[in-house]
Amino acid sequence: MLFPDYRGRRMRANANFRRMIRETTISKDDLILPLFAVEGKGVKKPIEAMPGHFQLSGEYIVDMAKQAHAAGIPAIIVFGIPDKKDPLATRAYADDGIVQKTVARIKEAVPEISVITDVCLCGYTDHGHCGVVENGIIENDASLDLLAKTALSHVRSGADMVAPSDMMDGRVTEIRQILDEEGFDQIPIMSYAVKYASAFYGPFRQAAASAPQFGDRKTYQMDPANAVEALREATMDIEEGADIIMVKPALAYLDIIYRLKQEIDLPVAAYNVSGEYSIMKAGEMMGWVNAKDMIMETLVAIKRAGADMILTYSAIEVARQLEEA
Ligand code: PBG
Repeated sequence: MLFPDYRGRRMRANANFRRMIRETTISKDDLILPLFAVEGKGVKKPIEAMPGHFQLSGEYIVDMAKQAHAAGIPAIIVFGIPDKKDPLATRAYADDGIVQKTVARIKEAVPEISVITDVCLCGYTDHGHCGVVENGIIENDASLDLLAKTALSHVRSGADMVAPSDMMDGRVTEIRQILDEEGFDQIPIMSYAVKYASAFYGPFRQAAASAPQFGDRKTYQMDPANAVEALREATMDIEEGADIIMVKPALAYLDIIYRLKQEIDLPVAAYNVSGEYSIMKAGEMMGWVNAKDMIMETLVAIKRAGADMILTYSAIEVARQLEEA
């Protein structure tokens, strides 16, 4: 149909018509809120580059979990900031580690919300890499056992799902195996399968105190230039037993989300990362952009590209906005 028979503007003429033909909608069901846990009491330390986010000690993180639940969000993902770091990341898999204690506390206070844990070593190693370092090399196979132990300890403390973000080859197999052996065959793995070496993680590394102390993460995280490789990474993790495949970051990788959604038959998650949040909030502070609308538009775009769920620092504000709408 061509103009004048077709007039695109007819169905855009009012809010009801626009609602009726809307192809993509954001729902609270799509949202996962990341939270940062620290040791101590009464700690609510602002993360400078992420306005509205804090490093939170137990009572405050429970409070945030309650707020998330009250806002209708189904799940949170917890990151831990330990008080001690060492070469083997021992606080990552300690029974009394920060994530383990925090998860137990949240599950006791707000059992209704699902708690996912980020499984990685970078916040717990003194060198800040996601795996074990030997002679300046991030050793893949030597890291697997520690990652599996970390995942198991999270689940033992009550985590409902684990999300390995380290990008070591073979870690999904190791984690699936140890969970199954220990009676946790019902705990899903959300794999950060397609995780790019991205400048958009900058604010997070400040938030989680997890910046690498030498070099960068390019020997394990993916080259932003590669798309076919993303399919390979996703396929590998599916074969190893992942239940959800994540793409990260989201905004600069919508083509990857789209492609994976077409090619794989598992749910696809997208991580709307710290830098994506920070630039919008910073723009708003400058008075240059409307962050609220920009965030909603961004989430719609991520969903339109094919994401089934979105990890986003805006989860609570967006959930409340949806409630008002
Ligand atoms: C840990 C991890 C990172 C993020 C999630 N898990 C940082 C990194 O790989 O350096 C980034 C999240 C964000 O930027 O919001 N490996």
